[in-house]
Amino acid sequence: MFEKFFYVFIKYIVMYTLIDGKATAAAIRREIREEVDYMRHSHEKVPHLAAILVGHDGASETYVSGKEKACREVGFESTVIRYENTITEEELLEKVDQINRDASIDGLIVQLPLPEHIDEQKVIESIDPKKDVDGFHPVNVGRMVIGLPAYISATPAGILELIRRYQIKTEGKHCVVIGRSNIVGKPMSILLARKDYPGNCTVTVCHSRTRNLKEIVRQADIIVAALGKAKFLTGDMVQEGVVVIDVGITRLPSDKTKSGWKLWGDVDFETVAPKSSFITPVPGGVGPMTIVSLLRNTLLAAKQAIYK
Ligand code: GUN
Repeated sequence: MFEKFFYVFIKYIVMYTLIDGKATAAAIRREIREEVDYMRHSHEKVPHLAAILVGHDGASETYVSGKEKACREVGFESTVIRYENTITEEELLEKVDQINRDASIDGLIVQLPLPEHIDEQKVIESIDPKKDVDGFHPVNVGRMVIGLPAYISATPAGILELIRRYQIKTEGKHCVVIGRSNIVGKPMSILLARKDYPGNCTVTVCHSRTRNLKEIVRQADIIVAALGKAKFLTGDMVQEGVVVIDVGITRLPSDKTKSGWKLWGDVDFETVAPKSSFITPVPGGVGPMTIVSLLRNTLLAAKQAIYK
């Protein structure tokens, strides 16, 4: 009886820490705003982000308007260049080249996906790596891999910042990354294994072909769930005290919300949270950090802080 009470008591006081991405992102936006105000008062050029948007994909429109709004909030200049789906690859490459040579623009993103007749990789590689604030150019990816200063893509950079601000210990920990995408899983596995903080982890990458995934995930001290399957990670798959970073954003229809849909993470929060030491919610965890990471990269570009 006493034992049971003791267990419930311990469980009560050893609550998990909710990693508040929304509040952290707001704090970072304030910090960036202060730097930009200082630049303006010193008559320096303020950071300028340009975004190219091709077509009328709903999600892309939302992302780009979110980026524009964030730029306004921190006092950046922003330009959105819109094209119809009929633009040719050559015309798009010409525009990128023009922006590459435009000294008034510090950072350029080409919103993805692009229409099928345009070679996405060719467009990414046409962006000057010094303006590639998305961190998608192979030069930036390569520099990141060998530990040189580089633009780190927004989601991994946001996750690193959350780990830093919540002072989560990473050294010697076993980190399991679920998912191997170029934008999240792959860079995350490299960044957490690097000789730095956050880093110095022993990293295992799991993916769709992994055998005994449950067994591996159960050995993790830190889990980065980035596979894009709603509520995939359940309480029975994790050990006590685990740190859980949920990168999933699956939109599913819901009759309980005004919009008619609801966002779900890759983590079944209800069963995983009670076993965690730190956990990110969805929404309000990793998501809000991505745009601020893009702002941070643009600020670095304006200050020419990555490529000396
Ligand atoms: N499409 C979805 N996410 C992103 C992003 O982070 N950058 C760009 N350029 N396109 C995207």
